[in-house]
Amino acid sequence: MSIKGVIERYKEYLPVTEKTPIITLCEGNTPLVRADFLEKMLNLKAKVYLKFEGQNPTGSFKDRGMTVAVSKAKEEGMQAVMCASTGNTSASASAYAARAGMKSFVVIPEGNIALGKLAQALIHGATVIAINGNFDEALKLVREITDEYPVALVNSINPYRIEGQKSGSFEICDDLGCAPDYHFIPVGNAGNITAYWKGYKEYKDAGKISNLPKMMGFQAAGACPIVEGRIFEHPETIATAIRIGNPASWKMAEAARDESGGMIDKVTDDEIVEAYKILAKKIGVFCEPASAASVAGLIKTLNLGYFNKEDNGKEIKIVCILTGHGLKDPDRAIKIIERPQPVDADKNAILKIMGY
Ligand code: F0G
Repeated sequence: MSIKGVIERYKEYLPVTEKTPIITLCEGNTPLVRADFLEKMLNLKAKVYLKFEGQNPTGSFKDRGMTVAVSKAKEEGMQAVMCASTGNTSASASAYAARAGMKSFVVIPEGNIALGKLAQALIHGATVIAINGNFDEALKLVREITDEYPVALVNSINPYRIEGQKSGSFEICDDLGCAPDYHFIPVGNAGNITAYWKGYKEYKDAGKISNLPKMMGFQAAGACPIVEGRIFEHPETIATAIRIGNPASWKMAEAARDESGGMIDKVTDDEIVEAYKILAKKIGVFCEPASAASVAGLIKTLNLGYFNKEDNGKEIKIVCILTGHGLKDPDRAIKIIERPQPVDADKNAILKIMGY
């Protein structure tokens, strides 16, 4: 049996009809990996799971929303899609546009997008426009252009993106048989935290789950407008995917935090890199730096004594969303771990390095 994509699997919860052409790459169905190493390391009376969204067709969670946004654009007769992006949205938009036989235009901040993501947009045939500016400026321009020209905007301010992305919550609940107690997630433009919260609430309304998680969002310390309550004109972080100073779904992210009784906090680049290394070296999961912000957030929150205070030692379920694949940003991995120096093609030289 072939794998069902997001629309086919969850159509009753999505704004599609018999007439909607389904543009899919069999997205979704991503694994929930138990992270027992983290449970032991953190001495937690909890089960920790990693939702590895890097296993989506273009290597990030964006595909869940893009299948719906591009299908609806196609249904509405649009011939082109456009987005601003820190990289993953552009990779996904260009792949789904290619699949749909549509044009794609992507606007990216020059010098601040990971190499793998740029390669994806280019090879899928997008017209890639690099600006001397950041993501927030790119999004402003793209909003203006798509207002004036017959091009579908496929950033997460497009409600179809949020609709598709909420399927992540459905999958977690289907796999666990309930909602988790805590949902840790990186926050950039704040669409994903908005989508997950919407998904959990809809599943509860449909009687599929009886509890709702606390939404725990994490921004990078150099790009944490929601945490500090101010626009960051010059956001900076090594986690380029979340290098955003004025998130489009700011208010909705705050609502998710407040309605769920969760928090939105920040993690430093050092904390992000530490979590990124633990995930790769001790758990075998290679995610991109921005994704590791969720696990960095878990470690930080625990150190603050949050769970002990809130849960009185009862076993809890924690899900951390790992939003994108590590192979998107190979430069970062190689910068952190030294590249090996070549040796002679000689058995003894190799054995020496092996320590035998
Ligand atoms: N993690 C990754 C890997 C991302 O690419 C993004 C956003 C986020 C987290 C944050 O999600 O914006 O919904 O809060 N990337 C966008 C892009 C901005 O253009 O690819 P968010």
